Amino acid sequence: MAVKTKLSGVLAVPGDKSISHRALIFSALSQGTNKVYQLSPAEDCMSSMRCLTSLGLKFTKIEDEGKSNGLSWQVISPGLDGLKAPRETLDAGNSGTTIRLLSGLLAGRSFESRFDGDESLRGRPMARVLDHLKAMGAEISFETHAGRAPFILKGKKLTGQHFELKVASAQVETALLLAGLQAEGQTSVKLPTLARDHTLRMFKHIGVPFSRSTDSTTTVERLQKPVGEFEIHVPGDISSAAFFMVAAACLEDSDITLQSVGVSPGRTLVIDVLRRMGSDLTVLNEREVCGEKIADIRIIGGKRLKGTTISGEEIAQGVDEIPILALAGAVCDGVFTVRGASELRHKESDRLALITKNFSSAGCDIEEFEDGFTMTGKSSIPGGSYWATALDHRLAMAGQVASLVFEKALELEETASAGISYPHFTTDLNSLL
Ligand code: S3P
Repeated sequence: MAVKTKLSGVLAVPGDKSISHRALIFSALSQGTNKVYQLSPAEDCMSSMRCLTSLGLKFTKIEDEGKSNGLSWQVISPGLDGLKAPRETLDAGNSGTTIRLLSGLLAGRSFESRFDGDESLRGRPMARVLDHLKAMGAEISFETHAGRAPFILKGKKLTGQHFELKVASAQVETALLLAGLQAEGQTSVKLPTLARDHTLRMFKHIGVPFSRSTDSTTTVERLQKPVGEFEIHVPGDISSAAFFMVAAACLEDSDITLQSVGVSPGRTLVIDVLRRMGSDLTVLNEREVCGEKIADIRIIGGKRLKGTTISGEEIAQGVDEIPILALAGAVCDGVFTVRGASELRHKESDRLALITKNFSSAGCDIEEFEDGFTMTGKSSIPGGSYWATALDHRLAMAGQVASLVFEKALELEETASAGISYPHFTTDLNSLL
């Protein structure tokens, strides 16, 4: 275990990115003025806001004399029927959540929208959503490659369907439920394993009717009238907190507390795995805010971490945390294995390939599989090597933490992409050092 530095102190991480996207996008289901407190400052959420502005929603910062650091927003929505045809391309930037959720929202409108994104988003699979929206009645035409952005979506009268998803994707589930709220008849979506359920928690909080069966099938019908005005307080993002949690677990003498972190079921893989590995982690002050479970998380470093296996059953509960959890694996006593995680090849980068390449260059003993990797931990990792990010924010932040844990700092390809989810990550990391 490295002893060159430690983390200590208290930090409130920024608002949860998934919940922030939903608070913005679900505003379109209401008519009137909503308030969203502690929205994530992620560039991805700004992409959602930009697209929704093109559709007729208005966003202004809530003036509270700096109390919420300029992160609380008033959202004025014309309601679903008041949405206007966008005059410009809906540019989702790097954000998979923006492009997929908005596709579902607009599939039942009576206008045409052109969707696009950056190079990385253009390479990501869209058919997993768009094929289903087509089955419900929407018309989609791809401009360059089948199943990829850019594409044109023509909203139509939709018919409800039953979908059984092969991949436990909360994005796909949410897009189909948003379309279902505009369709004739019932639309139901069944997930193969537990995933984040922020959509259902927020539906309940804002008054969107739905039913959920014991086999994880969610059913909605056409929304009869706009939902009422709502307020949402966004909890801290556990996917952002994960970087500090793993850093503290790996660095001896660390003692940090992360305040007001979202810990709803379907998001807690990082907590479960660090506990299994034997780290000293306590979940304090559990409470509920706007239907989401939140808590403070304290991690004390210094415990030798044990190896563990993360299986396909649990991947969807922390799919974004695998790059940073791999760091805990690199320094554990034993073998750390991830399987059933081929979804990681379809994220902002091919994360399985980059994890293998970067950890191997740093001196780790790692083998890549089609659906994961396995590594044998070592008490000290040389580091000092090149760390490729492919402009993937999670890799950029994992590299900064790995630099502290390895013997020698890494040569990071870049750090700016962290802004996609966490613009002031480096400042917050330094504040704990
Ligand atoms: C998200 C779900 C996950 C996650 C992404 C955000 C969401 O994607 O990787 O960062 O907000 O629903 P998938 O549902 O496609 O796995």
